[in-house]
Amino acid sequence: MLVDLLEKSNYIVVYTGAGMSTESGLPDFRSANTGLWEKEDPTQIASTEALNRDVEKFFQFYRERVIGVKDCKPHNGHDILAKWEKDGLIQSIITQNVDGFHSEAGSENVMELHGTLQKVHCETCKKEYGSEMYESETFYCGCGGKLRPSIVLFGEGLPEETFMKAVEESEKADLFIVLGSSLTVTPANQFPLIAKENGAKLLIVNMDPTHFDDLADVVINDQKIGEVLAEIDRHLVKK
Ligand code: APR
Repeated sequence: MLVDLLEKSNYIVVYTGAGMSTESGLPDFRSANTGLWEKEDPTQIASTEALNRDVEKFFQFYRERVIGVKDCKPHNGHDILAKWEKDGLIQSIITQNVDGFHSEAGSENVMELHGTLQKVHCETCKKEYGSEMYESETFYCGCGGKLRPSIVLFGEGLPEETFMKAVEESEKADLFIVLGSSLTVTPANQFPLIAKENGAKLLIVNMDPTHFDDLADVVINDQKIGEVLAEIDRHLVKK
């Protein structure tokens, strides 16, 4: 049934959240017991206010996440999505994730709504550096400004161009596939709605239920994304 859904669609857009990277070894944010926000209040640590009020805690929190991303790598699910793009089965990926794993796995048309942990930039002069600066605990720019990860912090807007491209892709989709997101954070959670409003079918693959499940045409809970993608891939008609 899922295979039919994909094979009958002409423009498939995939939308991923942190649940796409837990099988790579990275924690998500809201899974019970293991999510990052089970231990930290995101507004107190993942915000521009934290960067200014508690900068040492901010630096250490993000240094740990930068190292986590470097210690982990894309899993089979990322590889399958990259292959499906090359085969012309899916057209693009809208991701909330900042680990860069879709690009590392070979996906090309990737919209990083929340930026990337692969880079840091100076809060003052905006100069960009690789995130290895955080690995070596270099937290300040040559100009004296603070270095911060090139991600969207709570209280900040999403990158305009990326956002508009994601709107366009969501409007063009006739199948919109959500993989591993609780769909709780706006405006990133608007894209499944935009797709649905433009006539797309909506497939949600997420361990836990989401508030959008009643909007979806198909919902798969309690299964790992990597296994669901591998199962679909096995049954696709070999091109
Ligand atoms: N397979 C399927 N689903 C999974 C898996 C898995 N292997 N691992 C986790 N999940 C599901 C969880 O059930 C959870 O509902 O992925 C979802 C991840 O939800 P969140 O942790 O809320 O992550 P996300 O939706 O990406 O968060 C959005 O919040 O803090 C901000 O900027 C941060 O981009 C992030 C945004």
